[in-house]
Amino acid sequence: MDLIQLKEGSAIIEVPKKVIQHITEKNEVFYNPAMAVNRDLTVFLLRVFVKEKDRPIKVAEPLAASAIRSIRILKEVPNVEKVYINDLSLDALNYARKNLELNNIDLSKVEIFNEDANVFLLKTKYYDYIDIDPFGTPVDFLDATAKSLAHRGIAGITATDTAPLSATYPRTCLRRYFAKPIENEFYHEVGLRILIKKIAEFFFQYDIPIEVVFSYSYLHHFRVFIKRYRGARRVDEILKNNIGYLLYCHKCLYRDTLPITDLREIDLTCPVCGHQLDWAGPLWIGNLWNTDYVNQMVEELPNVEVQKETEKLLKLIEKESKVPSVGFYTLSALGKALKLPYLPTKKQVLKELNAVETHFAGDGFRTSLNHQEVIEKIKTLVGKS
Ligand SMILES: C[S@@+](CC[C@H](N)C(=O)[O-])C[C@H]1O[C@@H](n2cnc3c(N)ncnc32)[C@H](O)[C@@H]1O
Ligand SMILES: [Zn+2]
Repeated sequence: MDLIQLKEGSAIIEVPKKVIQHITEKNEVFYNPAMAVNRDLTVFLLRVFVKEKDRPIKVAEPLAASAIRSIRILKEVPNVEKVYINDLSLDALNYARKNLELNNIDLSKVEIFNEDANVFLLKTKYYDYIDIDPFGTPVDFLDATAKSLAHRGIAGITATDTAPLSATYPRTCLRRYFAKPIENEFYHEVGLRILIKKIAEFFFQYDIPIEVVFSYSYLHHFRVFIKRYRGARRVDEILKNNIGYLLYCHKCLYRDTLPITDLREIDLTCPVCGHQLDWAGPLWIGNLWNTDYVNQMVEELPNVEVQKETEKLLKLIEKESKVPSVGFYTLSALGKALKLPYLPTKKQVLKELNAVETHFAGDGFRTSLNHQEVIEKIKTLVGKS
């Protein structure tokens, strides 16, 4: 077997060469170098998380593959008591064991299991941190995650089925996530918010409130970190304020949100242009980030060896997290909807609309101005008022 050694963060792993030449679920052990950003951000988040805990944390990686993530957590995050590594594939676990050795990991800090991820979680609970990193959708693993996460624990959940969530396959989205996606300039954000709604449902049904600590969309994956708390009344409040629908006008780009507990007087006529409104959801209409966490993650940047892309993404999210709007605008969509003779520059828009860039789209921006104010200011910028 032709093996290759790869370095990521402070870890070295050995996998068959063909595994990275052709990345597929069928490989005897799965390793995707493009997911280094995902693992980098996990390390940052956990470095912040362990600071708020005054004791060592217990971590589970139920879908571990090569164990790269667990190895990085053990090497790059202080105060980790133990990492519980699981995979259904014995081949994968053989590589995981070799990689733990290769990195001189203290084996008393590791336990290895070969079970279905759900069985593993339910047998070995409770955990301060659970990482769910499946092929495609995470829905298979959400129930066991909700039941196995310790009070004030965090779950980091990846979804790579971005196509259904982003409206390429709306019927699959409805079936899998029980929500309607939308084709607009911020369809990725809507997809991420639908995923969060689905995750929230699994916790809420057991009277467990959650907070979104950090989330993002990058290339072909969505990632959400949620923290769990206690209290049915708190769930009621979160449901009322953070779950709802998006109303959207394809003609003038007007957008609004509607709480799920307040659907009495829905008028699907655009209040700005009179066109019929489209809608998406139910989805998460609460915050996508805890700004304290984001700021502290940025502060950790000099302390960890990471990809340039991770640094760029994190710094972008740091600015973006200060404007908690549902949805954003893009210059291209505004140009088309308002039939602008030319587009203002992003620099002009950021300044004049007191806006911030978004990591979701290169020409996108978030602002706390209302829709009419945005339209007026953009028109003024191109001399079309
Ligand atoms: C995307 S890979 C995980 C990658 C890894 N977390 C990383 O950061 O490189 C998904 C892994 O889940 C394993 N798997 C798939 N279904 C499973 C199940 N029901 N229970 C446990 N493991 C499973 C696969 O064998 C595969 O190794
Ligand atoms: Zn309209």
